[in-house]
Amino acid sequence: MTEKIVGLDNPELNQEANDIWDRIAGPWDEDFGPDGNQHNAYITDPVTDRLLDLKQGETVLDIACGAGRYARRMAEYGANVVGVDQSAEFLNLVRTNSKRTGVDIDFKRVDATDFDQLIALGDERFDAANCIMGLVNVASITPLARALPELIKPGRPIRVFRGASGVRQGKCQAEYRG
Ligand SMILES: C[S@@+](CC[C@H](N)C(=O)[O-])C[C@H]1O[C@@H](n2cnc3c(N)ncnc32)[C@H](O)[C@@H]1O
Repeated sequence: MTEKIVGLDNPELNQEANDIWDRIAGPWDEDFGPDGNQHNAYITDPVTDRLLDLKQGETVLDIACGAGRYARRMAEYGANVVGVDQSAEFLNLVRTNSKRTGVDIDFKRVDATDFDQLIALGDERFDAANCIMGLVNVASITPLARALPELIKPGRPIRVFRGASGVRQGKCQAEYRG
């Protein structure tokens, strides 16, 4: 887990990626809309729902949460949601959207390529984590791969789906659907 995953780690691109996301956050949110688009309705949401298999009252981490659409979906279902993203512009949108909908979510600015920032979210705090359309956008995923087993409570399987991702704890078990 601590070794560099060749081809998936380009930390030097992180700042550039963040500048781009900051620039396009507004149009992105408008394009997807408050309830998501058909891609969400037919692909990301049903797959993530199934992989996460959330129970009411569970605590879940939404990594690269963007404008918080799926985080709100989980909170409305009854989960305690912590949403993290490194784009300040997306987090501004999250706050505006949350105020408008009255859904209570804890959003934080966290760089998912930074192991220490991830670990500071809380040791074994989460029942599950998800990352919708996120992994492909995170410039270096090794810190996240190292942090997740520490963040998620023991005894849960890890499931990763590229594009839409649902993750539960379990240090060795992983399923991958590319
Ligand atoms: C395609 S958007 C997906 C947003 C959201 N999950 C959704 O489904 O609408 C990708 C997100 O990844 C975030 N991101 C990219 N690199 C990141 C990093 N290093 N740490 C945290 N978030 C990051 C971007 O800011 C952006 O919000």
